[in-house]
Amino acid sequence: MEKSRGVLIAGNWKMNQNLAETESFFKALSARCEQLRFSKKLRVCLFPPVLSLFRAKETVDQNPGLGPIALGAQNAHWEKKGAFTGEVSGPMLHEIGIEWVLVGHSERRQFFGETDETVRKRAESLLTQGFHVILCVGETQSERESGKTYEVLSRQIHEGFPSVSEELLSRLIFAYEPVWAIGTGLTATPVQAEEVHEQIRKLLEHRTNHSFAQKTPILYGGSVTPENIDSLLDCAHVDGALVGGASLKVDSFTALIQAGIKVLN
Ligand code: PGA
Repeated sequence: MEKSRGVLIAGNWKMNQNLAETESFFKALSARCEQLRFSKKLRVCLFPPVLSLFRAKETVDQNPGLGPIALGAQNAHWEKKGAFTGEVSGPMLHEIGIEWVLVGHSERRQFFGETDETVRKRAESLLTQGFHVILCVGETQSERESGKTYEVLSRQIHEGFPSVSEELLSRLIFAYEPVWAIGTGLTATPVQAEEVHEQIRKLLEHRTNHSFAQKTPILYGGSVTPENIDSLLDCAHVDGALVGGASLKVDSFTALIQAGIKVLN
């Protein structure tokens, strides 16, 4: 299938995998990756918790088989240093060779008071510092049931959108993650996902311009598994997946990568 924006398979480990589990995951993944045929159009990135991220980076650097695997942090502050207990900064991530960051995940919005404004500040600062940023948006079940999906996405995109140059925006990726589908086993159907991805692309076009909207990847997230990923990736506006649970096991994560390879062939 023609995927002009390529495909990105991203794994969000959330607060899972200690140091030993991280090391054994990446060693096993290295052996699997050696058997796979990666193309330039396929990007793969894993987001371990910040402590495990350091061990992951060491393991990736020591195993040539892991060359195609990028690593990212699940969050980072907009300031470069200072009195921000519990946060991690862009320069700290750069120091260990990390180039990707997730911002605005619904769990950060829901449990840690993240707002569209703080999402925008993080995205702006991190893009300016040279990171690839995946900005997550998505409606809750009650918002969907009351017909507010478009309104919520429109607010999240307009208020969370980073005001930086178009050049920096080329490292911005969106992830549509309906909150009702995260960790619930309830995946959006390909029709539902495609409909919302198209709406997001229109919102991006209003916010910027046609060419930016056409070039920006939009990932789907929410109970993606090796069983349902093919039908999601078959949607023209779905440019990859942001996966929680199924990214924790080498077998299932490898199967997700294989689905990315397959759809590009
Ligand atoms: P899930 O999580 O795949 O376990 O539903 C997705 C996410 O929260 O990014």
